Amino acid sequence: MNFSKSVVGLIALATTALCGTQAHGEAIAAMRAAEEQLILVGGATGRTGFRIVQLVQQRGYRVRGITRNRQGAIETFGNGIEWIEADVRDPDSLVAAFDGVDKFINAIGTESRGPENTPEEIKYRGLIALVDAAETAGVTYFGLISSGGVNDAATYIAQNRNDSLTWTFKGEEYLRASGLPYTVVRPGGMRDYPAGENGILLLQKEESSGLITRSDVAAVMVECLNNLHAIDKTFAIVNYIALDPESWREELATLQLD
Ligand SMILES: NC(=O)c1ccc[n+]([C@@H]2O[C@H](COP(=O)([O-])OP(=O)(O)OC[C@H]3O[C@@H](n4cnc5c(N)ncnc54)[C@H](OP(=O)(O)O)[C@@H]3O)[C@@H](O)[C@H]2O)c1
Repeated sequence: MNFSKSVVGLIALATTALCGTQAHGEAIAAMRAAEEQLILVGGATGRTGFRIVQLVQQRGYRVRGITRNRQGAIETFGNGIEWIEADVRDPDSLVAAFDGVDKFINAIGTESRGPENTPEEIKYRGLIALVDAAETAGVTYFGLISSGGVNDAATYIAQNRNDSLTWTFKGEEYLRASGLPYTVVRPGGMRDYPAGENGILLLQKEESSGLITRSDVAAVMVECLNNLHAIDKTFAIVNYIALDPESWREELATLQLD
């Protein structure tokens, strides 16, 4: 960890102790300029993850992407960002991935129905490994793409294949208890229709089943990266045609802290 990052981390911790979570968010948001910050994206080769990479780059941050196949990532996506090989099932591989990182967004997923890369390995044990690695490296923010329905797996039986929702919820709980500043975002069913045409409904107490385009999920994750109103909050997101496409950004401030 470099000196200025340590100082920011200490200020954030001291402020939390004195003033509580909201102040913590302010300290984090007051961090260095975007171009001085290194953002690590988990699942950077994924359908949502690469959109996150593009938005983070557009905002001027430096970006590092995790993949299990660095050469394949370079061939598919080019070397416009730093690619690093790591696998969440191998915690040791995460040490280099998190070295020097300021903030992290996790878009790692598994669609496995078989014995490899199961939800337990990726959404729970893998998430524990990511949180632990982030804490050890002094990362100051952890944004997590979770899933709608995780707190109501009994209703969303079809989506709970391989206990996916159950393990995802347990992973969320580990992050919330970690002490890392975080945002947990629970998207509805993810699709790839055009972004920005519908509004985005943010939900906390009651979740509504619905769809959301991956580009809008990426936009929410990148907004939360540097928005103090997103710190230490858990909420679901679905597209909602009747809303203004940009109103969700201000709605973040109305959400309750966990
Ligand atoms: N599908 C839905 O309707 C839905 C709804 C709500 C939430 N979500 C969640 O949204 C997130 C993003 O979904 P998506 O569809 O964009 O994902 P995706 O396109 O399937 O991409 C998955 C990513 O995970 C990485 N990955 C897989 N196993 C890994 C491992 N063991 N270690 C490190 N990286 C690994 C892959 O990287 P490499 O192959 O390059 O290693 C890839 O970049 C996921 O967490 C998903 O569960 C999905």
